[in-house]
Amino acid sequence: MKILLSILSVTVFLSCSQNAVKNEVIEVNSQENSQQSILNGIIEKLPEYAWVYPYSLPALDYEYDALEPYIDAVTMETHHSKHHNGYTKKTNLAVEENGLKDQPIIKVFTEIGKYPSFVRNNGGGFYNHNLFWTFLTPDGSEFKGEVAEAIVSEFQSKEKFVEQFEKAAATQFGSGWAWLVLKTDGKLAITQSANQNNPLMEDAEIQGIPLLNIDVWEHAYYLEYKNMRKSYISNFWNIVNWNVVNERYLMAKEAIK
Ligand SMILES: [Fe+2]
Repeated sequence: MKILLSILSVTVFLSCSQNAVKNEVIEVNSQENSQQSILNGIIEKLPEYAWVYPYSLPALDYEYDALEPYIDAVTMETHHSKHHNGYTKKTNLAVEENGLKDQPIIKVFTEIGKYPSFVRNNGGGFYNHNLFWTFLTPDGSEFKGEVAEAIVSEFQSKEKFVEQFEKAAATQFGSGWAWLVLKTDGKLAITQSANQNNPLMEDAEIQGIPLLNIDVWEHAYYLEYKNMRKSYISNFWNIVNWNVVNERYLMAKEAIK
């Protein structure tokens, strides 16, 4: 009888544990789904929702040599006119081949798993670089505005934010990006992405509206910095356009309301 009771207790315990795990998985999935559906509603309010097929390479607001000595002219020219141009052309090809001509590329990101990696890699490459150029300015800029206040509030200080952002950029294994994003809960977060992935993609580790990014592919720095990715990252702050970051923060805050 004792043995029977013991077996019964173990069975009841295992069944409860399995149910608890099952409920937890359901809860996590439903949180992810609701996060995704909130983001789906928000992306229509982003200015880049207006970027539609046929996609074209945006002109830069500054000359290729304007970011020297922090980023050299040859790197800038190759990066923009060859790499970014290549992603742009292949994005057009990718959307043509996959029947996506009528959808803005950022809409495609929200269900990127449905499509071949050619769409992800080139669509991401087109979008990520489009943003990146706008975050840079030859004149440098002051860390100020509502985004500066929000950063200090979220990360305790500008220095701690810089430290975490640099860590995300430096530790991205291989090619990729580091990002500052506004999440749908109104909080700021730092994240990193491999290859040409970005925080709008459905499978991003942290999803959110991009406010700032840094390209840590070797093509972004190798000619000047060789293997010294950390030097490239620390020099990045000399050419960040905080006015643009602040504008995106204000826009993103409105979008998530
Ligand atoms: Fe790049």
